Amino acid sequence: MAIEVVPLPLPHSADATKFANFGREVRGVDLRSLDPAEFKQIEELLYKHSALLFRNVDLSPAQQYALAKAFDPTSESFGHGNKKIENTKSSILHQTLRAVPAVPQVYLVGNGTIYDHEGIPELTLQHPSHKTWHKAHQSAEDQEKGATRFVRWHMDAAFYDFNPPRVTTLYGINVPQGPRQMVKYDDGTGDELEVPLAATAFVSGKTMFDILPHALKSLAVRSSVKYAPHPYVWISTAKAKPTGLGIETEGLEMRYDLLPEWEESKIQVLPLCWKNPVTGDLHLQVHPMCAAELMVDPLPESAQREDALYPDGGHITDLQELRDLLYQMQRPGIAPQLVYPHDWRAKDLIIFHNRGAMHSVTGNLKPDQIRTYHQCNLAASDRPVGPSADDIKIWS
Ligand SMILES: [Fe+2]
Repeated sequence: MAIEVVPLPLPHSADATKFANFGREVRGVDLRSLDPAEFKQIEELLYKHSALLFRNVDLSPAQQYALAKAFDPTSESFGHGNKKIENTKSSILHQTLRAVPAVPQVYLVGNGTIYDHEGIPELTLQHPSHKTWHKAHQSAEDQEKGATRFVRWHMDAAFYDFNPPRVTTLYGINVPQGPRQMVKYDDGTGDELEVPLAATAFVSGKTMFDILPHALKSLAVRSSVKYAPHPYVWISTAKAKPTGLGIETEGLEMRYDLLPEWEESKIQVLPLCWKNPVTGDLHLQVHPMCAAELMVDPLPESAQREDALYPDGGHITDLQELRDLLYQMQRPGIAPQLVYPHDWRAKDLIIFHNRGAMHSVTGNLKPDQIRTYHQCNLAASDRPVGPSADDIKIWS
């Protein structure tokens, strides 16, 4: 059977012109037994379209691990290191991720109490909260009426010691049913986005870069981010912005000397733009919550200095300044018309290019709204590649 590729079902809120290349549904393949030619085709589709949807999939945790590993055959451990999350109780991810015992590279995410699942007799999962994690809370009345938020815009990556995974596979086993909800941006813009219950929202890192004005593109291609050591512990005492795109700067981050033991050599410094291995496009990929410093290279000699930001380069260590810059670069890319909120059906599998897109969960779930998902991503065997010398010349 030939592979069939169709566009994703875009919501009315989406600007279809901006999604021409983003996202595809793939039909006519059995992910459990791909031959090399089929895998090659899927791999290329993924890097071209950033997110692939497969419906009615049956996939065991071992098969899901094998599928993720096919994209990076020498990778071994979960994106955050096997068992690292269980062992780091103060991490903000600890409450929401639990490893499948037999396949520790596959994590359970979801909501409610599940029984007899993959060797786990009983487990209560907690949907990531938009109620306690953001600085400003939505009123109980608004939540009752279906208000929700983006919990956390991110890529799946430890940003310490382990390289960001190339892909994430996300498999919906139990999908909660209920009325649609309204994501409120609550940032003074009045922006909102209607989403299916507990939708996973995706945005394209390529679009995020493409829509920037010249001065910010120039800054993006010349910049690298230094991430904090154990960043998810570092921010565990801080609060998120209402859009879920970064942290409010209030000096609440954990002091470095109070973090679990860390080594300078394991700190990650990564370019702001990551180059797509198939298309050569640049994707703006930065975890705004985990970022601690920004290093900016000077403009190349051929570039116009007029209106340039940091023309002689710079090293930004002030968190407010850093976060303001990142927000300026990233907020346009999460505008309602640029978000694809996936309307999950049971047995949907999404493979997304974790180095080319950002995602956030949404949704306000009650304990009896059971959500069971398996997630697998693997710490990559290599680092993301930044802009080439030519890219820097072109965009500076
Ligand atoms: Fe994620």
